[in-house]
Amino acid sequence: MSGKKNVDLLVGAQWGDEGKGKVVDMLGSDVDVFVRFQGGANAGHTVISDGQKVVFHLLPSGMLYSGKLCVLGNGLVIDPEQFLAETNELFQRGQDKARLAVSPHAHVVMPYHRMLDKLQEEARGKGRKIGTTGRGIGPCYVDKYSRSGLRIEDLIDPDVLRERLTYILEEKNQIFTKLYNQKPLPFDEVYEPARKWGEAIAPYVDDIRAILRKAVDEGQHVLLEGAQAALLDIDHGTYPYVTSSSTSAAGAFTGTGLAPNDLTRVIAVVKAYTTRVGEGAFPTEDFEEAGEKLRANGGEFGATTGRPRRCGWLDIPALKYSMELNGADVIALTKLDVLTGMGGIKVCVAYEKDGEKISTWPTDYRVLDNLKPVYETLPGWDDDITNCKTFEELPANAQSYVKYIEEKLKTPVMLIGVGADRNQTINRGM
Ligand code: GDP
Ligand code: IMO
Ligand code: MG
Repeated sequence: MSGKKNVDLLVGAQWGDEGKGKVVDMLGSDVDVFVRFQGGANAGHTVISDGQKVVFHLLPSGMLYSGKLCVLGNGLVIDPEQFLAETNELFQRGQDKARLAVSPHAHVVMPYHRMLDKLQEEARGKGRKIGTTGRGIGPCYVDKYSRSGLRIEDLIDPDVLRERLTYILEEKNQIFTKLYNQKPLPFDEVYEPARKWGEAIAPYVDDIRAILRKAVDEGQHVLLEGAQAALLDIDHGTYPYVTSSSTSAAGAFTGTGLAPNDLTRVIAVVKAYTTRVGEGAFPTEDFEEAGEKLRANGGEFGATTGRPRRCGWLDIPALKYSMELNGADVIALTKLDVLTGMGGIKVCVAYEKDGEKISTWPTDYRVLDNLKPVYETLPGWDDDITNCKTFEELPANAQSYVKYIEEKLKTPVMLIGVGADRNQTINRGM
């Protein structure tokens, strides 16, 4: 029974959109089970294979492979409409339903969560907005922790759904009418679609903890795919400008029921520069030409909301923090090609604030604002690298940049992205 464990955990190391989807897809041929364990349809994971582009919001990025199991863990918040739209699209492409398993304990994002997300953002007003994706993520996790949530298992039992939704909606309608001056939601308008979603999702529901336990014990290759990233973590990120789940490595255990010692490797996905969508501190953001150029060259527009991403340089203290938090064993460095033709490449190695030098990532939000980055500038390169297949084929300055990152973060860079396609990846032994 007990083969050698083979469980990879892949996490974003910055503020999301590092290219996690591409890396999962690229590693996928060797994977047996793909798992999402936290977050919801706020994620946008892009996979480009043979010129075909697919953006996954809820489903694991391994869904394009045939015959492999894809799991949605209990830590997720699942918007049933989004789930059904995404699965239907894939089934129309010929994917097999049988290999998708959904935890009965995942929470359901209801329409009132999406409404509350928007109303709360509006109420926060200028200067306090988080810049959420509007997907109802925060309000759904609030309900989970206040024990007023609906789980997938509630959705698929019409009687339980009716009973729980009755009192949940009463409370929500008090909030809508009294706090936000909105009309109340009629029960049937919420219940009837929810009941139908339950019917449609029921065939996928399974004991994912037991399935994963068996897969791990048999030595199957399990790939846990994080959404968002360490600096958006509810506990360890730039609170309150974070998402509402545990996005760093620890979330993989609560979000699946696997144990910490099941893990064999943590892969941190690091973009070769930095981007952020939404509000919050971003010390290395570049408001000048370089930021514009990174956005244009990197196609830095949100995969979920289409918003332009804020762009800037690599931030070493932030990444050191992220490596520690995640226990990163290896780095997948993405979008190195975007730095081609950028001239000198700036890297932040410390910060200054009020004349004081700070060399570690400050977790105090009062310190985080208005940090002045201290940069080192590395020489750039102009040669196109999008067809490079080996590290040695990269221009010397690109190689030096990779080595610099490895030295600063004391973590080996095992994959290097040189283009958006699955094949545009230099594999240094993963
Ligand atoms: P995720 O949320 O971490 O999966 O990342 P997104 O999909 O939101 O954003 C990453 C974007 O960069 C997508 O458009 C990818 O197709 C693209 N991408 C990923 N890796 C590379 C790379 O190495 N080079 C280039 N040029 N694009 C990449
Ligand atoms: P992937 O998985 C980048 C950001 C939002 C906002 C904050 C809170 O594609 O990397 P939320 O809707 O989660 O309550 O928004 O988090 N955010 C992301 N930023 N990539 C993501 O996912 C994100 N998911 C949420 O922009 O600042
Ligand atoms: Mg994304």
